Amino acid sequence: MSIFVTRRIPESGFAVLRAAGVPFEVGQDDDERPLDPALLRAGARRHPVLLCQLTDRIDREILGGPPRLRGVSQMAVGTDNLDLVAAAELGVPVANTPGVLTDATADLAFALLLASARRVVEGHHCVTGGRFFAWGPQLLLGSGVGPAPDGTRKTLGIVGFGRIGRAMARRAAGFDLRVLAWSRRRESVAASPDVHWCELDELFAQSDYVSLHVPLSPSTRHLVDARRLALMKPTAHLINTARGPVVDEAALVDALRARRLAGAGLDVFEREPIVHEGLLGLDNVVLLPHVGSGTHEVRTRMAVMAAESALAFLRGERAEWELERSGRD
Ligand code: DGY
Repeated sequence: MSIFVTRRIPESGFAVLRAAGVPFEVGQDDDERPLDPALLRAGARRHPVLLCQLTDRIDREILGGPPRLRGVSQMAVGTDNLDLVAAAELGVPVANTPGVLTDATADLAFALLLASARRVVEGHHCVTGGRFFAWGPQLLLGSGVGPAPDGTRKTLGIVGFGRIGRAMARRAAGFDLRVLAWSRRRESVAASPDVHWCELDELFAQSDYVSLHVPLSPSTRHLVDARRLALMKPTAHLINTARGPVVDEAALVDALRARRLAGAGLDVFEREPIVHEGLLGLDNVVLLPHVGSGTHEVRTRMAVMAAESALAFLRGERAEWELERSGRD
């Protein structure tokens, strides 16, 4: 009876496992690369419980065994790498790590919004590249996020109004942004009086900034496609800290290249870790390596939660963050 920890996790998680005195094996003691899929399969044959990462593809074959897994504990809130349909059919419980990364992810989304709007990375390169010759009245002008001198407010469109979307709305209030939101569950938006629900197409057309906070599913794959990008204002910016495939990356490159869209801030990519070549050559993008939840405090806690769920599964108990109870954003 043991746990397969697919990759090295923060020490806090190992401490939980050691304190419980259960045996565990670490698939890969390396922070840089995902575990090889063949080693993942082999590990799942030797251990009934997995403590895995979003870089591990957990399919029906892995879940069903033999031996059939007793549980899968994922150290992430997103679960699109797991075949949840198969898990439900096979009766394999799945847990994730919701709630703890909400603020860190919203912080990063806002950081990308500000960086893209105010051309922070271009400015950095101007200075480090020795091109800052003098203060200039027209040097690197960006778009305002807070109100303009005449009081005109900018509009943020939030796509997906779960925990992270709502945290984004709270940050937007501090910048006096007008906030529109779309969610399949319209009533979740109605609970926030300063946020206006609107249809997706309208949100894309009206917003100065669009920030994506939906989980990846068949219905959200390429939710931002060429047609929706064409609805956006040419002065607008797109922010994605959700999942890469929510955006059609090739269409985004075309829009950014043609300046039909002012900028984009991306923490996630369609074929991670591969980044569309076209994005790499653009100056109107800010690109980060999927670090939305990447703070010491958050990852320390995520590792504890994931270890506790793995222990519960090993003991045949219900885990506190078992999926149908915890939510996926
Ligand atoms: C998640 O939890 O889904 C993030 O993408 C990584 O922490």
